Amino acid sequence: MSVTTPPSLPTRRERPFDPPDEYRLLREEDPVSRLAFPDGKVGWLLTRHEDVRALLSDQRFSSNRLRASSPVRSFPVRPGEPVFRAGSFIGMDAPEHTRYRRILTHWFTTRRMRELTPRIERIVAEHLDAMERTGPPVDLVPAFALPIPSLVICELLGVPYEDRAAFQDWTATLLRIGGDEESVFAARDALWAYIRGLVERKRQEPDDALLGSLVHDPDSSFTTDELTGVGLLLLVAGHETTANMLALGTLTLLTRPDQLRALRERPELIDGAVEELLRYLSIVQFGIVRVAREDVVIGGRLINAGETVVASLAAANRDPEHYPDPDRLDITRPPAQHVAFGHGFHQCLGQQLARAEMKVAYPALFARFPELRLAVPPEEVPLRHDMVIYGVHRLPLTW
Ligand code: HEM
Repeated sequence: MSVTTPPSLPTRRERPFDPPDEYRLLREEDPVSRLAFPDGKVGWLLTRHEDVRALLSDQRFSSNRLRASSPVRSFPVRPGEPVFRAGSFIGMDAPEHTRYRRILTHWFTTRRMRELTPRIERIVAEHLDAMERTGPPVDLVPAFALPIPSLVICELLGVPYEDRAAFQDWTATLLRIGGDEESVFAARDALWAYIRGLVERKRQEPDDALLGSLVHDPDSSFTTDELTGVGLLLLVAGHETTANMLALGTLTLLTRPDQLRALRERPELIDGAVEELLRYLSIVQFGIVRVAREDVVIGGRLINAGETVVASLAAANRDPEHYPDPDRLDITRPPAQHVAFGHGFHQCLGQQLARAEMKVAYPALFARFPELRLAVPPEEVPLRHDMVIYGVHRLPLTW
């Protein structure tokens, strides 16, 4: 691999569940490799588990995406307009970022998610009832995978679920790669105006969901814009990600009958199965970016101040130094920390929520339909190569 002509991010998958093959080669031969970005700049790509974790827990790297290059053509910005407006703490650094996490963390603790589980169980059961009433074939994405996390995050935030068609649409537009810029700007503006309107309403009529509570919490002191940004981030991050894990995870298990059989026979395997699916599928498929604030050496290479570094979560999660036989899905694998939720300061705030949803949804789906199977040949399932979050666009199932 020549330093003078660095490649761009590998994105072409040969097999639906595996990251592009180039990552394996890079990890073996050039684990901290030069990378060309669509904006013409050159930065770095990390593919080893150890280096990815080192990067994500190092304060010398900033999460401020305004200064970073994007590895794929996504999130276009109007000249002068920040991609991440007020409140979008995923793009902030300490101490500002710490302030947001401190206020929001207790909304997403394991205990809170345990309390939420009976509600998730009811939502899942209602959607399974509806699938049964409709009868096969059913597309699992609109019938199950998308509505469950959407409903849960709506209730948690205090966003009216009746508005889902609009916010699901805007989110899909935002997360599409290489989409038409004007549509992205329009979706972002619409989503912002929608959440801002909600926050303003909650100033008049508070409720005890997250947004309504924070509006009146003297400790939070978020401005209306900040709270709008928080709501937008949580709404977008809170439904697309888990929805894709539910649909893609189901497809994966249906095409691995030995694993599905093991899960059906031993329901106690569910916790490990969820972690293994997260590792194996790494749906944040193009990784996450950081910008060096100063010169830093990682994996023996000097990263210069101002350069963008991409941490490939998908490559790190298949690192044989960390997981024996990494390309095999094995739901009985002994626990080993994966990076599907990131690592360090920005590690996913909603991870316990995502886990709670998956732990309820997969077993309930497979228990309700013992004969569940694909209604089309596997190669006809449309894969989300074109989206920041990997998964399937549709999943026709029968039983
Ligand atoms: C399986 C589902 C999910 C996956 C794979 C996932 C993945 C990730 C990853 C990789 C990051 C790190 C980003 C970075 O370091 O730049 C992240 C951050 C985040 N996620 Fe998730 N996520 C999931 C579900 C959720 C849910 C359900 C929520 C709902 C609230 C959520 C909210 C967030 C937020 C707010 C952040 C930013 C945290 C921060 O910057 O401090 N995610 N997620």
